[in-house]
Order: sequence, then C-alpha cells, then structure tokens
Amino acid sequence: MDRAQCSFVILGATGDLTRRLLFPAIYRLFARQEWTADRIVGYAAENWDRTRFLAHLEAGLKAFVPDFDPDKWAKLQEHIQYLSGDLTAAKFAALKPYIPENAIFYLALPPQLFAEAAQGLGKAGFNQPHGSARFRRIVIEKPFGWDFDSAQHLGEALANWWTEDQIFRIDHFLGKDTVQNVLVFRFINRLLASIWDSQHIAQVQITYAETLGLEGRWRYYDQAGALRDMLQNHLMQLFTLAAMEPPSEWDADILHNHKAEVLRAVRPIPPDQLADFAVAGQYTPGQVLGQMVPGYTQEEGINPGSRTETYAALKFYVDNWRWHGVPFFLRSGKRLACDYAEIAVQLKSVPEKLFGAGLSDWLVFRMKPHEAIDLVMWAKRPGIGLNTEQIILTAPYKKVGEEDYSAYEQLLIDVLEGDQSVFPRLDEVQEAWRIVDPVLKGWQAQKPEPYAAGTSGPKEQDRLMAGTLSWRPLEPS
Ligand code: BG6
Repeated sequence: MDRAQCSFVILGATGDLTRRLLFPAIYRLFARQEWTADRIVGYAAENWDRTRFLAHLEAGLKAFVPDFDPDKWAKLQEHIQYLSGDLTAAKFAALKPYIPENAIFYLALPPQLFAEAAQGLGKAGFNQPHGSARFRRIVIEKPFGWDFDSAQHLGEALANWWTEDQIFRIDHFLGKDTVQNVLVFRFINRLLASIWDSQHIAQVQITYAETLGLEGRWRYYDQAGALRDMLQNHLMQLFTLAAMEPPSEWDADILHNHKAEVLRAVRPIPPDQLADFAVAGQYTPGQVLGQMVPGYTQEEGINPGSRTETYAALKFYVDNWRWHGVPFFLRSGKRLACDYAEIAVQLKSVPEKLFGAGLSDWLVFRMKPHEAIDLVMWAKRPGIGLNTEQIILTAPYKKVGEEDYSAYEQLLIDVLEGDQSVFPRLDEVQEAWRIVDPVLKGWQAQKPEPYAAGTSGPKEQDRLMAGTLSWRPLEPS
C-alpha cells in the first residue's frame, strides 16, 4: 500500500467542514496509525496563530470524536502548522517551506472560491511536482458548479492549472461503505447478473429521507435547494452504481467510463412535461420525531417568500438496451418522517393467474438507519390453503464491533494513494447537470408544493407514478 509521506494543506482550515468532518477523519486515521501525517498546514483568512488554531481543532475533536484521546492528539499536534493568507499566488508562496515534496491541497472553501484558489496555487507553482516529489493533488467537494454552464466554467478554470488526474472531487456518499457494497454485491453475485435488466426489473427507487432541517446552513441551502444539494450529485451517483454496465476490472478509468456512459444514456427530461417527471416540495410546520418544528420559510435567515425546494423527486428513463422502459425514481427531502435511505429495485411480477396480482419481489440496499440488504419475497403462509405472505430475507451489513470508517477516512486514504475510482470524473459531473438542468430552469417559475414537516413529502409526487406504480413507504417494515 502506497501511503506516501506528504504535506496536507487545508485551505479554509478555520471553517465548519474542517472542524466537523475533515479533521476528525484525519485524527482517526492518525490514531489508528493508518496514516502518519507528515505536515498538516491549516491555511485561512483569519489572522490566527497556531495556538488558537489548535484550540479550535481540539474543540471540534472533543465534540465529534467519541473516543478522543488527549495523548494521541498531543502527538498529532506536532505535525500541525497554521498560516493565514488570501488565495493569491503571492500569499501562497509562504507555504513553500512546508511543502518540500508531495502535497495534497484540500479546498475546504465555499465553492465559489474553488477556481480562484486552484489558480493561485497553480500560479505559485504548487501544481507541478518537482525534485523528489511524485504528486501534487487538489481536492474539492460538491457542489461542482451551480448548473450546467457554471459546472463547465469551473471545469475549465480548474483544467487551466490542474490535470484531471490531479483533481479529486469528493462526493462523500461514494466513501460510504454500504454504497461501495452496491458495486461489490452487484458484480460478485452471478444470480443478480441474470436479472439485472428491463426484462426482469420493473422500476428502481432511490430514496434519501432526512429528519434534519437546515442545521444553521441556511445561507447555502436557500441558494441550493434539494435538487442541487442531493439529487444532482449524491443520488445521481447512487443511480450510476445501480445502473452502470459491469466493469471488466476495478480500474478508475473503466469505472468512470461506465458511469459516464449510463448518465449519457439518460433521456432528457422534457421541459414541457416537467410536471410528469419532477416534483418540488417545501416543508410547512409539523411534528418531526415528536417535536414541533417551524416551516421552511419561518426558519432563521429564510425569506418568507423563498421558493427553494426542500424536497425533490425525479423520474427518468435510460435509453439503452439494458434499461429500456424501466423508470428510475430519485427523491430526497429535509424534515421528513424519518431518516431512511435505500436503493430499491423491484422485480417484475409473475403471471397473476397463479397466486394473484401485485406479488413482486424487491431487492433493497438499505443505507439508513440500518445498513443491510433485504430481499423481499413471497412464500406460502403456514396452514391450510394456498395463501401467500411476504417474507424478508435480511443480510445485515455490519456486525457489532466491526471497525467502522467514516466516508471521509476512506476517501482521504484514496486521495493519498492516488486512487480516483470513487471520485466523480468531470464528464460524470457534467452529465448529471445536463439531466437536472431543465428541471432547475423549469422550477424557477413555480412554487414548490407544500408538505407538512414529519410526513413523506408532497402528495403531488404521486404524479410521477402515473397511476401504475407507487412509492415505497418511508419506513418499510
Ligand atoms: C450533504 C448535504 O452533502 O449530505 C446535506 O449537503 C445532507 O444537506 C448530507 O444532509 C447527507 O449526508 P449524510 O452522510 O450526513 O447522511
């Protein structure tokens, strides 16, 4: 395993992402001796000194790492520096003494600063490995652009200074263990290969339901909305894993080619029939997990007339041989009845005459709250007569006591090893924007449908089912 020594530079080091997610992951990797950091340099606009930066990180670790160990933290601190500055090449020059060779630049910055930071680093020469350095990498997190056009511009701005094999785009869902298991489970079990097509599959539903509201992120969220925040990236990536062709080997280029190919095959959503393919919702006051919560437009910072959707549901078809005629449904929302996430694949029903109508099987990859794979099937109910009942064969994914890695830990190791397999490539990002762009534009002119907090979203989402299918309940038994 190539765990090369390198300098790890965090731009935006005083922000929330660093404190809540990135640094806890760095600490845990260090504590487990998975990765011995060589130099970690926090860099941000705040005119702090190292002591203040360390105190800030420590508070975050105490809050977000349950088994925080002060001794390990004391050792990790020896590797940490702090520098303040802006995103210009002139200021970045101060980083030089800390970057003798390999380096990773993690842009924990607001997305509108990605292009500027990438350029500043490039102009300062940090994009070129020299001397004994083997790599210089840059890491950014979604959103990658705001719509199709801005994603193109961002892609070009980064490409002016960094090559595609230096750019790691984090979609943290792809670092989740159960998400990676979708690929393994699909491509390791021959039984599935023979049924994974339109001859056997009736529909695919990908759901990510959250009880959470804005969590103080209103500035970002009110601009973004559910379609940009969840569907364009996380759920679209889950779709690629469920729908892509089998790769011949676990190779980053081959995986990306197959993912991009299936995204390219998604039939454009017709702007003049938007209502049949996309539904936007916005929560109104209601009870979530027993607590009354305000409606979206009563949340702190939100304009009472805001049209931002907090729920988005999409339907689309994939125009290729494998998926001809199979509808894919993606939905995600805030302040819903429960925290529930799954990729659910429904098999076509068997001829009705034998045991009645509506008996079809589901294969469900459950991600939240429990990680498991369910096979929902039918069997004879014990007793007199040929009555049927549903049975669920469940394979729990993790056993108690099994080591648990956060998505960020997994992804950081991949960045260190230079493995881009689970980092979306530019063409995947662009294709995903192509799919959602007509919806974003169409929704600008309309108000989202209201739904009470604590429910399953707006009832208008049933429109997408065209009276023939139905959404799975949010808390299936
Ligand atoms: C983030 C979104 O990317 O993913 C959040 O911005 C969302 O709005 C989060 O809550 C969900 O991811 P997880 O891993 O916390 O369930």
